[in-house]
Amino acid sequence: MAIRRICKYGEKILEKKTRKVIFEEIKKELPALLADMFDTMDAVGGAGLAANQVGLDLRLAVIKIRREDEEPLSIVVINPEIVERSGSSFEEEGCLSFPGLFAKVRRSVKVKVRAMNEKFLPIEVNAEGLFARALQHEIDHLDGVVFVERLPLMSRLKLKPALMRLKTQWKKIDESKMKPDKL
Ligand code: CO
Repeated sequence: MAIRRICKYGEKILEKKTRKVIFEEIKKELPALLADMFDTMDAVGGAGLAANQVGLDLRLAVIKIRREDEEPLSIVVINPEIVERSGSSFEEEGCLSFPGLFAKVRRSVKVKVRAMNEKFLPIEVNAEGLFARALQHEIDHLDGVVFVERLPLMSRLKLKPALMRLKTQWKKIDESKMKPDKL
């Protein structure tokens, strides 16, 4: 298990649609890869992480929603697709590839997602609220879309200069080299 470096805004792999996972090709490495992805996400307190955020061209993501008085909701989605969506909400969102940046994004309130789980068995997930938002955010990543592209046009334009400046700082952050107490 290890913490991996998270790719930041501006790195090309985040802009590319990821490749569908072929189980036979990665089944040996999959458990270690997923453990690393959970470790990396936990180390920085994230709610989701897509494989291309750790530099891998694979259509898979991990999600962990922390809940009060309940076990966190953890899930692995391989080759996920949103098959149904409903409602609309405009809420604040962040992204591990944009450390420290938060902005309001419009998302569906409920989604139905079909995917494979870590054992490569088909699953159907009915999610709402934060869980649905995280799924939409991660599936966007897998399609090469980052959350700032979902902002209203005016916010996107206003944010542009700051993003250009932050991009250079973010590039230097390497989570894999950070001491646990600095994360
Ligand atoms: Co993200």
